[in-house]
Amino acid sequence: MLTLDLKNTKPAEKKEQKKIQDFLKNIEKKNQGFYKVIDDKKAFEKIEALAKKIKNNFEFFVVLGIGGSALGTICLKNGLKPTNHEKLFIIDNIDPDFIKEIENKIDIKKTLFIVVSKSGDTLETLSQFFYFQKKIKDKKLEVKKHFIFITDAEKGYLRELAKKENYQTLDVPENVGGRFSVLTAVSLFPAALIGINIKKIINGAIKTRDMFLSKDTKKNLPFLLAKTQYDFYKKGFKTNVLFPYSNSLSSFSDWARQLICESTGKKSTGITIVFSLGATDQHAQSQLFHEGPNDKLIIFFEIEKFKNTLKIPNKTLRNITFNKLINIEKASTEKSLQEANRPTITIKLSEISEETFGELFILFEGATAFLGEFFDINAFNQPGVEHSKKLTKQAILKL
Ligand code: PA5
Repeated sequence: MLTLDLKNTKPAEKKEQKKIQDFLKNIEKKNQGFYKVIDDKKAFEKIEALAKKIKNNFEFFVVLGIGGSALGTICLKNGLKPTNHEKLFIIDNIDPDFIKEIENKIDIKKTLFIVVSKSGDTLETLSQFFYFQKKIKDKKLEVKKHFIFITDAEKGYLRELAKKENYQTLDVPENVGGRFSVLTAVSLFPAALIGINIKKIINGAIKTRDMFLSKDTKKNLPFLLAKTQYDFYKKGFKTNVLFPYSNSLSSFSDWARQLICESTGKKSTGITIVFSLGATDQHAQSQLFHEGPNDKLIIFFEIEKFKNTLKIPNKTLRNITFNKLINIEKASTEKSLQEANRPTITIKLSEISEETFGELFILFEGATAFLGEFFDINAFNQPGVEHSKKLTKQAILKL
């Protein structure tokens, strides 16, 4: 379960109901699938069936992808750490040392490579594919057995190649963009391979999707989150600090950073995301948040029930648990920030689970879609990213 504590921020007023309705109409017109894909039971059954069929044939799974094609998977792997999580590697960069480091950890003969690219054309991902495809060929292994493509159903280089050479594929729905694709095969297939229960993720996502579509200002948490972010932005708080008091949410912050930055960074507007980990970064960034530039909205994440309960055997510390200590530290940091007139809100999670990740994904995707409407920008495109992709290709072709 997920709740939003807006603390000293103003609750949305009645007149906001009309805004929600108008915003939802606009989002609908943009034909975005991120909140609809979770109804596609057939797609999830296909993902689960394929994962079940092939997961025991391999000892290692390697995702080749970047940006929205990798961050959701990293978030689920690091956040949920199922028993098999160490079998899954995600190569989301073209740093040769990083690629080699992972190559050294796997046995190519026992590896399934999952090539993930919505466009099917991303240079970083294709170059990784060419590299490992040659490795497989060099070992005289059957290439098609070791690769599966997750890509657009119709377009792009990967799709063309899959048609021509009969590679196994899963589709990314046409109306779901990279950073909004975590609830599709993009992340759910690798998640299913390492034993994450994807149905539970979807169940959680459906809960916040229903909130996202609600006209009731008090129930619509994605709207309330976006309104709070926007209202503070207008007052000069242009940076949001994502501050989870849970290591399991560290990679969620990476995922959310891409979603918010790439979606809102348009027409000289946009929210900058900084992340911090509680309690660790109380000893790194808190001083800046307390007395540095007052331009940040701090978004805390608090976990009510951790998986483990660990007692601190010390009388001075009242023999409390780490569980209690971490939340006392969060509350004290929040209180002192508020005393310094620094705005804060808290997202409370009952626990870290498949279901709460599902809830969080739609909370942030929905809020980001609403932010697009508040800022009057298209949250779903990325012309800047496309431009640099084009320049890179041109530079290579000139060589
Ligand atoms: O959100 C986006 O659209 C981007 O960040 C993409 O995820 C990223 O550029 C990778 O693109 P693709 O999935 O087409 O390889």
